[in-house]
Amino acid sequence: MRVAMIGTGYVGLVSGACFADFGHVVTCVDKDPSKIERLERGEIPIFEPGLDDLVARNVRDGRLSFALDGAEAIRAADAVFIAVGTPSRRGDGHADLSYVHAAAEEIAGLIEGFTVVVTKSTVPVGTGDEIERIIRERRPDADFAVVSNPEFLREGAAIEDFKRPDRVVVGTEDERAREVMHELYRPLNLNETPILFTGRRTSELIKYAANAFLAMKITFINEMADLCEKVGADVQQVARGIGLDNRIGGKFLHAGPGYGGSCFPKDTLALVRTASDAGAPVRLIETTVEINDARKKAMAGRVAQVLGGDLKGKRVALLGLTFKPNTDDMRDAPSLDVAPALQAMGAEVQAFDPEGMAEAAKLLDGVAFKDGPYEAVEGADAVVILTEWNQFRALDLDRVKRLLRQPVMVDLRNIYRPEDMRARGFRYSSIGRG
Ligand code: UDX
Repeated sequence: MRVAMIGTGYVGLVSGACFADFGHVVTCVDKDPSKIERLERGEIPIFEPGLDDLVARNVRDGRLSFALDGAEAIRAADAVFIAVGTPSRRGDGHADLSYVHAAAEEIAGLIEGFTVVVTKSTVPVGTGDEIERIIRERRPDADFAVVSNPEFLREGAAIEDFKRPDRVVVGTEDERAREVMHELYRPLNLNETPILFTGRRTSELIKYAANAFLAMKITFINEMADLCEKVGADVQQVARGIGLDNRIGGKFLHAGPGYGGSCFPKDTLALVRTASDAGAPVRLIETTVEINDARKKAMAGRVAQVLGGDLKGKRVALLGLTFKPNTDDMRDAPSLDVAPALQAMGAEVQAFDPEGMAEAAKLLDGVAFKDGPYEAVEGADAVVILTEWNQFRALDLDRVKRLLRQPVMVDLRNIYRPEDMRARGFRYSSIGRG
């Protein structure tokens, strides 16, 4: 199959490279000349484990290419994927669809032969209808079908998630489009990976419902963690105890500083807006959004509490700034709330992150960025673990203790064990463990 992928952001690039690896001929198109130049030189603009090798291999074998002008690729394509950004619109939290609409306009002018137009971007319910209308208006003669095919990729594990997904969701009622989509995903072991064909609006909603449910699950365990602290229970054991029930499942039950990233905060908010506009408010999700926003801000208070209630004149070391490990993505990362809140309480903040510091430096004022975890910890009154990078799990704790002004650790990801840390002489605070 021939594929044109519009947008070489996170989703577009990973999906394009993986489809090429499935054996399809893929052109990734982007309006940003510097991005295309970098990709053509073999530079990957994002940090995602394994993506550089995957791209290099498929470029070398002639299945993957990049283009500033998508005309040729779109004309030749069996399937054109729209994988452009849908950021939160300033002010109202609705998804901003201007890039999606622009892509539809462009595609409309170029379609030749039967073409499946696929939305990979996360788009509100009804966007497929809108894209169909835009194309139909410009090109009443075009032979095409608009399909919804949401992605469920986790950053840091995106290639694995693309190649071994729990399911593929395809929203279309068009028989020819079904065949094309089936053929595109045929290299997945379809005995193991169900393709769920649904109506287009249903598929669009599945993406939001999945993200909202996971965000709610995290928020649930975060609230349980707070309760555990009050009643002397252990949230990790609670998570295991409930997660072993198949109806609940053990994943997404790690208590922490609140969820961040490019999807959960934006998609929960967009779902809240869609639902309230439709007259069917989703109150569970409204509450989830509120709890999570407040939680991220409240984390600085925990640090203050361990240091005796006051942060004036104190120095705090943050280990980890990205919203999760194995990514350089800073979007809606808890650190963006925690660092300013610490500063507002009078603390000086110094920080280290293995991949996120270049981006963090643009977003955080007054933070001293250090070259490594030990440099970040040196002279601080407390060290706060904000992101569970593997290298922070294997710190030389005696060295950390020596470098700190006071042996205080606030572990917001529960990567260490309270009894071990106390035995080593740390004042140690974690989430939901008494
Ligand atoms: C998420 C969805 O998992 C993915 O299916 C969707 O397509 C995009 O959004 P991603 O944002 O990359 O993926 O990361 P994910 O691993 O889901 O983590 C999101 C946030 O939740 C992170 O801030 C993470 O730290 C937090 N989280 C996750 C928890 O606090 N506890 C958990 O148990 C799991």
